[in-house]
Amino acid sequence: MAGPVENKGSITLRNAREVAAAFGVGVAGGYLAGRALRRGMDGRSARVPQGTTEERTKRYYNEAQSYLTGQLQGTCHFGYTEVGQPFALGTALHGMEVQLGQALGLEPGATVVDAGCGFGRVAKTMASEFGLNVIGVDLVPQRVEEARRFAQEHGVSDRVSFIEGSYSKLPLKDNSVDAIYTMETLCHADSLEDTLAEFRRVLKPGGKLVNVEYTIPPHESLGRIRRKITDTMVNNTGMASIGHFTHGAFPSIMESAGFEGVDVRDISQNVWPTWHHLFKQALQDNRTKLLPKILHGTLMDTPNLAGSLMIWPYRRQLRENIITSTKPNIDSQQGKI
Ligand SMILES: C[S@@+](CC[C@H](N)C(=O)[O-])C[C@H]1O[C@@H](n2cnc3c(N)ncnc32)[C@H](O)[C@@H]1O
Repeated sequence: MAGPVENKGSITLRNAREVAAAFGVGVAGGYLAGRALRRGMDGRSARVPQGTTEERTKRYYNEAQSYLTGQLQGTCHFGYTEVGQPFALGTALHGMEVQLGQALGLEPGATVVDAGCGFGRVAKTMASEFGLNVIGVDLVPQRVEEARRFAQEHGVSDRVSFIEGSYSKLPLKDNSVDAIYTMETLCHADSLEDTLAEFRRVLKPGGKLVNVEYTIPPHESLGRIRRKITDTMVNNTGMASIGHFTHGAFPSIMESAGFEGVDVRDISQNVWPTWHHLFKQALQDNRTKLLPKILHGTLMDTPNLAGSLMIWPYRRQLRENIITSTKPNIDSQQGKI
């Protein structure tokens, strides 16, 4: 993609009406508020993110915990809505999990790793609706605790277990699981290469990998402000690998990591209703907090809020995808692995 693409998404022009509605002002006021918002994102960040990728990720999710639990009903992923169907948040969130289960396409009783399982909502759906045995892994202790409680409450503890730790170092044997999935979490991998090698080690030959992931435009194609927003988001949230996830890059990423049969399904339009919902909600819920943040240039210190505000306006630059691939089967590779 050549040249700056910033004009393809802008809080100021495309969304003046929504900003206006959220602030209870006219469209002209919405335009001005939108400009201010954008400047707030461009402002200095009061906090310089410290620590390793894992430390940043943990800090981000500890802070995000209550907000995301409330907004996304305990899940930590976007929703899937069939194009043309009315939007309902709960239906959409569940719909995304169903899409994942269908992409896995496993027989009941198969064992699957949920890498970056969060509060265990996805794991519960995989166990209760697809009959899978799930091993959830997450860095954040509170998330693992809540995931265990949730599994207990929903009667799936016999099929779902959780490990606190990094999905880049799984305490599992070689060739031991039927599938691995990541639901909006592979972007946090500190080393993408090492993480995919770890997934490949643990998967059985012929085992499936399904990643629900965003892709973004190449960094150099972004305008100055969009580039700055992206950098700040990445630093504040520990999304160390998102820079690799440019549109169209996944087939070569997965093939270089030793996977085959890569399929990338673009589901961007299916997540737009959820992005729109989060955008409107973030504006409504934060009306009084936004002005001081904008004035102090510290909007980016609350990445969840900044992210919710920016994802809908920039929707045409971002894509959400379901990427499926397979670890080569020894037989089909004639013993090459
Ligand atoms: C966007 S949330 C998604 C949670 C869950 N997959 C869902 O859809 O509800 C990302 C999760 O990945 C976890 N995570 C990030 N990096 C990780 C790593 N290296 N190892 C294990 N978990 C990680 C975070 O703690 C967080 O819970």
